[in-house]
Amino acid sequence: MPRELVSRGVSIVCGLSGGDQLHCIFVDNGFLRHGEARQVEETFIKAFGIDLHVAHAQARFLSDLKGMVEPEKKRKAIGKRFIGVFAEEARRLGDIRFLAQGTLYSDVIESASPSGGPSATIKSHHNVGGLPPDLKFQLIEPLRELFKDEVRALGRELGMPKAIINRQPFPGPGLAVRIIGEVTQERTTLLQQADLRVQEEIADYDKGHTIWQAFAVLLPVKSVSVMGDGRTYENTVVVRAVTSQDGMTADWARLPHDLLARLSNRIINEVRGVNRVVYDISSKPPATIEWE
Ligand code: XMP
Repeated sequence: MPRELVSRGVSIVCGLSGGDQLHCIFVDNGFLRHGEARQVEETFIKAFGIDLHVAHAQARFLSDLKGMVEPEKKRKAIGKRFIGVFAEEARRLGDIRFLAQGTLYSDVIESASPSGGPSATIKSHHNVGGLPPDLKFQLIEPLRELFKDEVRALGRELGMPKAIINRQPFPGPGLAVRIIGEVTQERTTLLQQADLRVQEEIADYDKGHTIWQAFAVLLPVKSVSVMGDGRTYENTVVVRAVTSQDGMTADWARLPHDLLARLSNRIINEVRGVNRVVYDISSKPPATIEWE
């Protein structure tokens, strides 16, 4: 940790989260959950009074992903664009030498290269595997050796708001790795709408925060159904809900059948373009939490 290097008067940029030496950059890649970009802005500007710079880069990310279907290619493309937009925003802020980000130990383990460590690259977490070798910033990663449950304990110790501590983990590449196959604006909007129903129902059911993550995944698979007196040939949405301590292993959540029925009914009836909902009953290992 280059703590001694960060002397007074030296500016730092941060991937998000406090002092007047700190400028936060929020890259809106367009793959956030419904309403989340606005919520992030409100929380960080209004509640924390942080100097937040928002880069609206949705169109650039979408155009990079055009025609791309292979998971690692998608992740790498998003990571590359992310650091590009980040560097561009940082340049506008003047002489920035340090980049602080909330890398966790699980990100480090899962992004480790086969030659650099004992494990195979499972996924390139873009705050680790997606950074270019000639990165202009020196990294500050205070949480790098901690797992998520330890970071939450630290947050509680620091008196941070419960709503922030209990937020579900969300992958850097966002909904783009939950849209299997090609990512388009239309498919992103469809998934945001399906995911919103999952978030609402789970928030209502899981007041004690026993679920580690719950979300929707959009498959590139269509099927036939009868809706009203017509035939439809539409998309399939997967509901994934898991319990976990640190994200390294996970079990599928035994959600009550009534809740699953509500989720299915709401998604099929309320989200245009979806006619089938399935529940993912795969544990990690071997199945990772995210689908890509
Ligand atoms: P997997 O899918 O590998 O995910 O079982 C383990 C945990 O990590 C989250 N995840 C990410 N977090 N950048 C992140 O900051 C990423 O690229 C990324 N990919 C997965 C995932 O949501 C789960 O909590």
